[in-house]
Amino acid sequence: MSRLKRVLIVVTVVVAVIALALGGGALWLYSDAKVSTVGSTEFDNELSVPPLAKSTVTSDGTRVFDLTMQAGEKEFRAGKKTPTWGFNGDYLGPTLRAARGEKVAVKVRNKLGEASTVHWHGMHLPAKMDGGPHQMVAPGATWRPHWKVDQPAATLWYHPHPHGKTEKHVQRGLAGMFLLDDAAADRLALPKKYGVDDLPVIVQDVRFDGSKFDHGHKMMQDTGFLGDRTMVNGTLDPYKEVGDELVRLRLLNGSTARIYDFGFSDDREFALIGTDGGLLEKAARMDRIRLSPGERAEIVVHMKPGERTVLRSFPHDSFGDFWQKRFAGGDDSFDVLQLRAKKTLRDSPELPGALGELEVPDGSDSVRGRFFGLLTSGINGKKMAMDRIDETVTRGTAETWTVRNEHSTPHNFHVHDVQFRVLEVDGKQPPPSLRGAKDTVFVPAHATVKLAMRFEGPADPDTPYMYHCHLLYHEDLGMMGQFVVVEKGEKAGKVRTPHSHAGH
Ligand code: C2O
Ligand code: CU
Ligand code: CU
Repeated sequence: MSRLKRVLIVVTVVVAVIALALGGGALWLYSDAKVSTVGSTEFDNELSVPPLAKSTVTSDGTRVFDLTMQAGEKEFRAGKKTPTWGFNGDYLGPTLRAARGEKVAVKVRNKLGEASTVHWHGMHLPAKMDGGPHQMVAPGATWRPHWKVDQPAATLWYHPHPHGKTEKHVQRGLAGMFLLDDAAADRLALPKKYGVDDLPVIVQDVRFDGSKFDHGHKMMQDTGFLGDRTMVNGTLDPYKEVGDELVRLRLLNGSTARIYDFGFSDDREFALIGTDGGLLEKAARMDRIRLSPGERAEIVVHMKPGERTVLRSFPHDSFGDFWQKRFAGGDDSFDVLQLRAKKTLRDSPELPGALGELEVPDGSDSVRGRFFGLLTSGINGKKMAMDRIDETVTRGTAETWTVRNEHSTPHNFHVHDVQFRVLEVDGKQPPPSLRGAKDTVFVPAHATVKLAMRFEGPADPDTPYMYHCHLLYHEDLGMMGQFVVVEKGEKAGKVRTPHSHAGH
């Protein structure tokens, strides 16, 4: 054999071996990325229900809550303690509850070893009270936001928002629900006994590494951390015994990157009664509801005496190509929560025909449009900068925001301070699940959504609100921008960031 021939054979063999190894590696990654707990979940832990937060009312009628961010540990699994963070406890936080028209204040104490914030997700409030990255609470410090609740009954939540660290702080356990009530909703015959027939359902995906959380990102997973099992309200493999015919679940996707497609194991229908910002105009029957991180849905499920059913998250295909679908979790499935009906159930009144009135604009009075292109590298080509105001809106006006996912990776879009109406998804009328008030919307790969919202103020040209992708890894990477609300004709001011203070 000539020398050339021998060299060629060796080269061919080496190339073939490398190609096989790469292909094998990709195949291994691909098959390793799929996870499922369907059918293998024991449901041997009773669901824990976060306590309702105590409050005191001051002489001027302000309802005051106390929240302390603290480190702790929790026995998620028998005999294994995991280091955690929580509000007023080891993991997650109490459920805050207030009514429309009430003045509320929260004493937020930081007993962690590092600075953080508490953001009131979905709440309409002054920018200074928002708890975004400009309202950092130093270790040992107390922050006292206060505002007047002026929005419909809804399932909101709270969580930290320190720029670049939100994923980590939420994953360690800092999150809780904030329920709002109003007189109109109080009058409706809906399940409303908290913890009995009206259940908070905070869904998070987790992975354990020995006694610790494993919050690492796996290879190829561009959307962030994806766990291999789920828990509800910090309970692994949970079941809940129910004694009423109709059960209301307030679903919150409190995960950092996981997108769920919820339904029941027997494919039964349920009634969607509320979305992020409150009750729908009328209940919509369906058998699946998709929630991306930060989104909420209130559903009512009908139970028969003695039966069991499982709230499940199903595989779904809103992720673009098969590769993205696999690595963003679209092939995954989870048995999330088992409902066990007692042998005899209390009768529940039938669901009312009309629920609420939507207070979100319909786009007809929008004074202007704006465009937001989503890429992991930033929104409209720019990474978040604490001292740059990206958009200036006028108090009292409505706008139409067009948000396009310019990526093959799923994203979502959340706007602080407002609730919006989804006008269109890819040029079409949105599905029933998106016809309520929303503050966060899933934007699948290459999809475009059109949103109408009104900025009620108050004006504050120096303090921005955020809009961002609520896949927290993306948010931390800089998929976030800032807007201020100003009076007509007024200009945006100069943001004073915590960093610029530190620099003095
Ligand atoms: Cu739930 Cu800007 O966050
Ligand atoms: Cu928010
Ligand atoms: Cu994103």
